[in-house]
Amino acid sequence: MHIAFAASECVPYSKTGGLADVVGALPHALAALGHQVSVYLPRYRQTKLSDADTVVASVTVPFDDKYRFCSVVAAGSKAGVKFYFVDYPPYFDRESLYGTSAADYPDNAERFALFSRAVLEASKILGVPNIFHCHDWQTALVPIMLRTFYTEDPAFAQTGTVFTIHNMGYQGLFLPETLPLLMLPWDLFTISKMEFFGQVNFLKGALVYSDFVTTVSKKYSQEIQTTEYGFGLEGVLRNRAATVTGILNGVDYDEWSPQTDKFIAAKYSPQDLSGKPKCKQDLLNAFGVTSASPEIPVIGIVSRFAAQKGFDLIAQIMDRLAREDMIVVTLGTGDKLYEEMFQRLNKQFPNKIAIKVAYDNTIAHKIEAGADMFLMPSRYEPCGLNQIYSLKYGTVPIVRATGGLDDTIEPWDARSGKGTGFKFTDYTGESLLLTIKQALSAYHDQTSWQTLMRNGMARDFSWGASAREYGKIYEKVRQMRASSEATSAASPKKDAVLS
Ligand code: ADP
Ligand code: GLC
Repeated sequence: MHIAFAASECVPYSKTGGLADVVGALPHALAALGHQVSVYLPRYRQTKLSDADTVVASVTVPFDDKYRFCSVVAAGSKAGVKFYFVDYPPYFDRESLYGTSAADYPDNAERFALFSRAVLEASKILGVPNIFHCHDWQTALVPIMLRTFYTEDPAFAQTGTVFTIHNMGYQGLFLPETLPLLMLPWDLFTISKMEFFGQVNFLKGALVYSDFVTTVSKKYSQEIQTTEYGFGLEGVLRNRAATVTGILNGVDYDEWSPQTDKFIAAKYSPQDLSGKPKCKQDLLNAFGVTSASPEIPVIGIVSRFAAQKGFDLIAQIMDRLAREDMIVVTLGTGDKLYEEMFQRLNKQFPNKIAIKVAYDNTIAHKIEAGADMFLMPSRYEPCGLNQIYSLKYGTVPIVRATGGLDDTIEPWDARSGKGTGFKFTDYTGESLLLTIKQALSAYHDQTSWQTLMRNGMARDFSWGASAREYGKIYEKVRQMRASSEATSAASPKKDAVLS
């Protein structure tokens, strides 16, 4: 089958979070199963291309005020996966992908509308896929446009859509005037389509118009159908529960494995863990922590700084956590609020919490390898990739039991020697503190701790199984489309007989 991905980020071309890792890896796993895969991405300033080749010189995207003309460039194709980049410098040649730390770019609706429309138009030249697989609100307009502007276009008569929610917290909310600006019909502005408390909601439109909706873990697919986690769209999802499912993300062990990682001080494996202490020393050096004893447990954090990630709980308990024998090492960037919070905690407890406010892939790898534990106290977490990377590095995850964190981490039981990490359920500082203390006390027994590390290192979250699950969904959608085509082709004939 031909699957076209449309997404706003993808490693190695652009990245702000886990979406990029998924879009960078899943297409290759699908190609390995025999699918033909095209990946459409915006060409940002940070997108580095070698051998770029313009394959569509000009795509016209009409807006209400004027036409815009973008081009499509091919680059980086390998092993059955072709990468295409929508090139429109006024929208994408910018400092960041979506905005500054103070605010989103004010023209994000136009930017991603242009991208979505260009993907549809370019595919008519480069090859219409059986399925468009779209990701998050930035590509929501692909399924919406297909079922509005393009319903009469014979090129797309059989084309299906799968939409993956990576995060319900980001919906693409815009003023109602956005619809006429993008030349979308006003009849989309109803409660059963894109209207959401007086605004236009791109994600909602995708949830209504896509043939199938997936999200990135089983648990999150259930959570988002509840008021607590649905961000107001729980009803929309419940209405179509039969075509909503959760497929756990895989990870790319070519990038994230202590046996091959090129960013870390020493390689190691479950059979020979002797490289890990060297990675720990290297990590402490990178953070300028030179006085700590090598025995001190190091708790690592690598994260976007956002309310989702649960860091307010750390602020609540830091004075009590600081009494423990441990050090927290943090890498993150994002909301000013949390950047300042971590900097404040570092000033207050300089020997207990170290912080780098940065986006730095090398340091992210060093933390995975050098820390003893990895902390993700998320308020919600659709899947989470860092805890899965941590397992592979023998860096024991401490997580809140939500979404993909709950689906991937099994609680450690010292008596049976089973389990891979530590989990807490209540979103409170008390629960977090108690769970960190449990982990710190388990760390004292290094023999059983190594069993715990090796349990995690033995887990396999590579993409194969999940890619097969996606393959089944694509097949279902193809059949749904073929039968709806057959029905609509049959009905005019029936009318003709009747008339
Ligand atoms: P999310 O997508 O919500 O940010 P995930 O756990 O799915 O969370 O993925 C985060 C990805 O982004 C991981 O690959 C992680 O290593 C990376 N990452 C997050 N913050 C940083 C940072 N400050 N520097 C480098 N990499 C980061
Ligand atoms: C989102 C989620 C994260 C998930 C990632 C990739 O950004 O916050 O939990 O792992 O997408 O699906």
